[in-house]
Amino acid sequence: MKILGIETSCDETAVCIVKAQGAKEHPSFNVLGNALYSQIKIHAEHGGVFPMLAKREHAKNLVPLLTKVLKDADMYHSGDQKMDLDKIKLILNREEGLFEQIIELLKNIKKPDIDLITVTSGPGLEPALWVGISFAQALSEAWDIPVIAANHMEGHIISPLISPSTSETSGLPPLNLRGGSEGEIFPALALLISGGHTELVLVEDWGKYNVIGKTRDDAVGEAFDKVARILDLPYPGGPRISRLAAEARAENSESEFTLPRPMIHSKDFDFSFSGIKTAVLYMVKKFEGVGLSESQKKSIALEFEDAVTEVLISKTRKAFEDCEIKTLIIGGGVIANTYIRESFTKLVQEFPGVQLLIPDIDMATDNAIMIAAAGYINFLGGKTASKNIIAEGNLAL
Ligand code: KG4
Ligand code: ZN
Repeated sequence: MKILGIETSCDETAVCIVKAQGAKEHPSFNVLGNALYSQIKIHAEHGGVFPMLAKREHAKNLVPLLTKVLKDADMYHSGDQKMDLDKIKLILNREEGLFEQIIELLKNIKKPDIDLITVTSGPGLEPALWVGISFAQALSEAWDIPVIAANHMEGHIISPLISPSTSETSGLPPLNLRGGSEGEIFPALALLISGGHTELVLVEDWGKYNVIGKTRDDAVGEAFDKVARILDLPYPGGPRISRLAAEARAENSESEFTLPRPMIHSKDFDFSFSGIKTAVLYMVKKFEGVGLSESQKKSIALEFEDAVTEVLISKTRKAFEDCEIKTLIIGGGVIANTYIRESFTKLVQEFPGVQLLIPDIDMATDNAIMIAAAGYINFLGGKTASKNIIAEGNLAL
């Protein structure tokens, strides 16, 4: 079946069309069109994501992105389109300017060969989520195609199964396949490390999730972003810190600073990252007036990356020891970090029965393909379409 995926939960506007096939045990996804507009530059001026600005940018970019993916998927053909304009207008009543843009596109093209629309309904920034949901529902109304809601975090769990670089995948992980094979993914442990979440989740099957631990304060990506801000590095901080730390590693330098590893010895699977950030803040305060040199910034980045990685590895190792698992799945923007990827690759080598599934770097951060994939898995699991999807900022797994 062909699925239109829409993602607007934070600061990436993303639309894709994928051809999904196969059973739940080994789905395959063929990417027919994929487009993403990152608002990073716009938010960087403010040092973080502003929900109302994100909403406005999504509304501006969804139609151009949809047009592009329809063309890429060879679904952009001229023709007539009968629509109930009043209904569509009502659906889009809170999304400024989107109605005019959608109608302009729809009146010129035939209904595309799409079977299902999937849209992120949460977790995320509610004003941003609403734009994607209204957009999906307006298209559903115009084209008479069902819509189902997808959980953004489930998208991150599924992301390692998809490799858009080859555009055709077998549902089997394209990378890092160690032991295990088709249908032998579960039970799995998913470590979700993004800008809004840090969670350890036992995955018995698609749709069967048990969150065994999570952060009590900041998410790991949030800690990267906040530490970057303290070091005067632009938003988003993850890639910046990671680059500085990599430079320090390449120079073989040892950090001249020491940061705490919060909760590393706690008996549960919870995390806490705000203490590391506060420690960096106090450290930097000592240099007030003189300022930090480039090499001191590198040194802090190195120690911060080490501290965060050690905590993540230690909690994951504990989960390996306590729970019977076949696969470690890691999802979320922070797994774009090279050092963290390498550290987890080494960790699983200690556990020969466990395979590691991590996404390609461009699938680690937010995208629409993981949302289409989550929609497909949900569809196979019997989830029904809805005309009344609502944005849920704190939606749990
Ligand atoms: O999953 P994602 O794209 O969005 C959310 O769902 O939150 O994750 C974004 C987060 C940001 O905090 C960003 O700084 C972090 O992922 N990130 C990284 C790297 N690339 C992105 N953190 C560490 N190292 C990176 N290379
Ligand atoms: Zn995300």
